[in-house]
Amino acid sequence: MLAPSILSADFSNMGRDIRFIAENGGDLIHVDVMDGSFVPDITFGAKMVRDIRPLTELPLDVHLMVTDPDRFIEDFAEAGSDYITIHMESLVHVNRSIQKIKDLGKKAGISIVPSTPVSLIEEILPMVDLVLIMTVNPGFGGQKMIPSCLNKIKKLDEIKKANSYNYLISVDGGVNTSNSAEVRDAGADILISGSAFFSASDPANAAEIMKGILK
Ligand code: DX5
Ligand code: ZN
Repeated sequence: MLAPSILSADFSNMGRDIRFIAENGGDLIHVDVMDGSFVPDITFGAKMVRDIRPLTELPLDVHLMVTDPDRFIEDFAEAGSDYITIHMESLVHVNRSIQKIKDLGKKAGISIVPSTPVSLIEEILPMVDLVLIMTVNPGFGGQKMIPSCLNKIKKLDEIKKANSYNYLISVDGGVNTSNSAEVRDAGADILISGSAFFSASDPANAAEIMKGILK
């Protein structure tokens, strides 16, 4: 599946770009929430989710890159998120926060940045619906993928199969038409794409390549 990130959309034409994602092969809409503290940049809050919710039937895949996700989980759930992903590095009591997302009836995701090992999230894996592996240091779109992160996808895929866990593996950062096959082969279920999708000369074609429909 492909989840284009609205971080690379035109914020002054967000409605148009939401429809553009649906019309050009997007399966989910990735919503990058940044607070200028956990990551250097600032994007938007729950109002963005509330405003785009009526414009699409695609699931809204919210990625909270914020220092205190507990403060915002309820707002994002009420606004209409389908997936809410929080960062392991931002919390001590991750178990409680994941449970909170699930109690609100939403799918819960856990994410790790490139310097965090898979071993740190092992205890939480039975509880989550999604694991988001960052393959760039979060904060900006358009960066180059850090290739060593691919090993983490393989590891997570092995753990999932060995234990019959149900999480989707999502990969975020520097995904493009040249490396997407490798990312899928490593075990990724969802490829997130910001710049490669939005700056492609033919985004529908780029989407099909990234999803493995076209070579
Ligand atoms: C980075 C964000 C990504 C970003 C990906 O902090 O979490 O979702 O939008 O953008 P590209 O595909 O351009 O690396
Ligand atoms: Zn993201």
